[in-house]
Amino acid sequence: MATKADWQDATGKVWARSFDRTDRAFAGLTQIMLERLSSMPGETILDIGCGAGELSIALATARPHARITGIDVSSELIETSRRRGAACPNLAFECADAAIWTDPAFSPDLLTSRHGVMFFDDPAAAFGNFHAIAQAGGRLLFSCFRQPSLNAWVTEPSRLLDLPAPDDPFAPGPFVFADEDRTRSILSKAGWRDIAFEPVDFGFVVGAGDDPVSDALAFFRKIGPPARVLFEMDEAARDDALGRIARWLAGKPHDGGVLALPAAAWIVTARKAG
Ligand SMILES: C[S@@+](CC[C@H](N)C(=O)[O-])C[C@H]1O[C@@H](n2cnc3c(N)ncnc32)[C@H](O)[C@@H]1O
Repeated sequence: MATKADWQDATGKVWARSFDRTDRAFAGLTQIMLERLSSMPGETILDIGCGAGELSIALATARPHARITGIDVSSELIETSRRRGAACPNLAFECADAAIWTDPAFSPDLLTSRHGVMFFDDPAAAFGNFHAIAQAGGRLLFSCFRQPSLNAWVTEPSRLLDLPAPDDPFAPGPFVFADEDRTRSILSKAGWRDIAFEPVDFGFVVGAGDDPVSDALAFFRKIGPPARVLFEMDEAARDDALGRIARWLAGKPHDGGVLALPAAAWIVTARKAG
C-alpha cells in the first residue's frame, strides 16, 4: 500500500502540493478531533505524521502557551508545514521517522495524529516508542480509517479500476488499524492503558465548485490508492477509467456544489499510566 519510502518520495511530494485538497477532504473529521482534543490537557504536544501541518497549526493557535512539535518523514511536507505555520512562535516541525524519534527536551503529555500513524513497518515498536517518550499520565488521541466497506471514497474507485485487494490487509496503509481488537492489542502490548475506540462517520470531500465531478477526478488522480494506478496507465486506459469514475460520481449528491463521499474513522484514545 503506502510505505515510509513512498511518503519520503512521490507520495509526500504530491500531498505537499495538494494540502488544500487533503485538508478539505478531512475537514469533517478535523472538526471532531479538535473538539475531542479541546477537553484534553496538553502543554507539550506531538503531532505524529503531521503532513502539511493543519492539525499542529490549529493546536498551536488554540493553545498559545503550549509547545507543539509536528513530525513527518517527508521533507516536502515538513517544508510546507513550516511555511504554513511560520506565524506560530510555539510551533516547530521536524523531518524524522516518528517510530524511533526521541528528544530529551520534548517529552509530550499529549500525542495526536490525524491519520499519520498507519504507515509504520512495525506498529508495535512505534507505539512502544510513543509510550516511552510520553510523560507519565500522557494522553494519546489519533484517527485512522475503519474497515474498507465503510469507506466508499476509496473502495468504489478501486473497484471501478479493478484494483486487487491487498495481499496483506495489515500491511502499512490506510486500513492497517481498521480492526479494533488487533489495534487494541498492539497499543496494549506497547504499554498504553484506558484504550477506547469512538466510531466517527464523515463526508470525505473529493470535489467542490462549479464542476465538482471534474474537481473530484483531479483529486483521485493525485490522492488515494487509485492515484498510482491511474498515473501508470496509458492515456486511453486512463480516460476510460476516469470516465467510469465520473459516471459513478455523477450519481452522487452535490450538496451546494460539494461532493462528499462516505468515510468512516476511529478516534482512538489511550493513556500512559501516571
Ligand atoms: C495520510 S497522511 C496524513 C498527514 C496529516 N496528518 C494530515 O492529516 O493531513 C500520513 C502522513 O504520515 C507520514 N508518515 C508516514 N510514515 C511516517 C513515519 N515513519 N514517521 C513520521 N511520519 C510518517 C506521511 O509522510 C504523511 O504525511
